[in-house]
Amino acid sequence: MSTPDLTATARQINAIIEDAYSQSTHLLHILYALQQRLLHIPHEAVREVASHFSLPISQIESVVEFYSFFSGTPRGRYDILLSNCTSCGYKAAGENLLQMLCDRLHVVAGKTRADGLVSIDETSCIGMCDHGAALLVNGMPVTGLDAGKIMRIAELVEAETPLADWPVEWFRIDDHICNRGLLLKNDFAAGDGMRATWARGTDATLAGITQSGLRGRGGAGFSAGMKWKFCREAQDDTRYVVCNADEGEPGTFKDRVLLHSHADAVFEGMTVCAAVIGAEQGYLYLRGEYRYLLPHLQAVLAKRRESGLLGSNILGHADYNFSIEIVVGAGAYICGEESALIESLEGKRGIPRNRPPFPVTHGYLGQPTVVNNVETFAAAAHIALRGSAWFRATGTEKSAGSKILSVSGDCASPGIYEYPFGVSIRQVLDDCGAKDVQAVQISGPAGTLIGSTEFHRKLAFEDLSTGGSFMVFGKERDLLSIIANFAHFFAHESCGFCTPCRVGTTLIKIGLDKIVGGHGTQYDLDEMKRMAALVKHRSHCGLGQTAANPVLDGLQRFPKIFEQRLAHSAFEPYFDLDAALEEARQVTHRDDAAAHLE
Ligand SMILES: Cc1cc2nc3c(=O)[nH]c(=O)nc-3n(C[C@H](O)[C@H](O)[C@H](O)COP(=O)(O)O)c2cc1C
Ligand code: SF4
Repeated sequence: MSTPDLTATARQINAIIEDAYSQSTHLLHILYALQQRLLHIPHEAVREVASHFSLPISQIESVVEFYSFFSGTPRGRYDILLSNCTSCGYKAAGENLLQMLCDRLHVVAGKTRADGLVSIDETSCIGMCDHGAALLVNGMPVTGLDAGKIMRIAELVEAETPLADWPVEWFRIDDHICNRGLLLKNDFAAGDGMRATWARGTDATLAGITQSGLRGRGGAGFSAGMKWKFCREAQDDTRYVVCNADEGEPGTFKDRVLLHSHADAVFEGMTVCAAVIGAEQGYLYLRGEYRYLLPHLQAVLAKRRESGLLGSNILGHADYNFSIEIVVGAGAYICGEESALIESLEGKRGIPRNRPPFPVTHGYLGQPTVVNNVETFAAAAHIALRGSAWFRATGTEKSAGSKILSVSGDCASPGIYEYPFGVSIRQVLDDCGAKDVQAVQISGPAGTLIGSTEFHRKLAFEDLSTGGSFMVFGKERDLLSIIANFAHFFAHESCGFCTPCRVGTTLIKIGLDKIVGGHGTQYDLDEMKRMAALVKHRSHCGLGQTAANPVLDGLQRFPKIFEQRLAHSAFEPYFDLDAALEEARQVTHRDDAAAHLE
């Protein structure tokens, strides 16, 4: 690998922009191309992009700053990001693999080595939780990390070995499907859902989706049929279909598997939706951590175009045109929130919009837009083919069909498990070989933390609803540290737009670290409760509204893990003020003994 010319002229930068621009109008594509080629997005490039789009420089700068995969300063030629998730994180192997790699390569975490060879940092969950500790190197996932592999990686980097010559099996990502149900068991031939839709008619197809009881699989559980109907009835001719493949909730990886092995069903569900609502353009918003899936997904799309399942006059129906474009995110969990996702698609920072109006009437470019989860579209394709009764026959009255779970953590067989809705937690734990379980985090950090007295409960919208994450924590785990890990996640991923979330998530994080470190007092605990309630009830969007859930669940269900860690003093400051003044004393050469604090 050769060092890029970091003083690239405006002409070079322009060429990169033109190249990316010719493929797509999406700003994220262009910024990605610049980041790839120059290893950062220098100010000159920001200026050129701004002038290309006739936008203020500050707007482009704010986009670069917003996404964690873009950088205003150079990253290493080997840019390594280790997941800090509790399941696929760098401590999952029992050692601090991040520190080990940093020590070995003489890098400070978060910085680029002076020779520009390597940069190492941590990142939020990369969706490899069934593969053990994992990292991204130049965007490619390497899984199953342990001390030996970390040492080997350090050698390969130091020798500047191209990624193409790294052991090929390191990059293999298996599906690990352990239990198949409605969607994963039944075959789906590309085009069958569309043919059934044309045979039945779009009115009857919409009625079928509604009658099937299909509810959104992204977490909120809104009726898919209602959403499609509202969009179809919206007063505008240009409508869009958007598939939410941002899958950023720690512990969730079922969409990764659906996109890898069932992409045709997902794209078909989008196409059925387009036929129903009258859309000609669709987008799949793929999280940046899954960029490695892009060639595969592009190939599936190309094949569908060749087979007449996308493009103009689909399956010979005059005037029925639909295209799908893939837009890749750049490392921001908040972009999974549908209105933030739409902002991101429009080339902006992923700041959630005020709602109402909802995307069904005012979505992408202000036009009516359906946003559904990957699994929702896959289910819709099967329903279009097999009918609503087939789907309704599985699950519970209020939660029809099946749910695909991403099972990870302390169990013998982490992986993908599909069950009829209504399955008990106990059943899932038995099936995945989990023993001596202390707690299960349902639906990721934004969801619900439960202990063994609740393992009889059911996964269903009417009991424990879930977007799919199922994290198992054994008896030997330090649950308080896990809750603190989740608090770090939310503080890091808060988009900063509203004060309760921006400040509150950071204060909760600091409070938890203090308690975990043995310096917390009853005062800190009371303050944290107050702050958690405030963040939950006063935040602008779902991220803030759920960010305090792990703390609140922990306090309610596992109060002892907090109480046992409290220091006995009535109050201890967050930091050592006297020590913090030391630098000032040295600079001013004044050290007045009487001015020292007790
Ligand atoms: C912070 C946050 C992150 C979210 N991430 C995702 C995600 O990664 N995938 C997803 O489908 N929905 C996610 N959602 C929910 C979406 O806003 C939206 O409800 C969903 O995409 C609608 O699709 P569905 O009805 O098929 O579930 C997220 C919501 C919030 C508040
Ligand atoms: S709640 Fe958090 S993530 Fe949502 S808008 Fe406010 S700061 Fe941003």
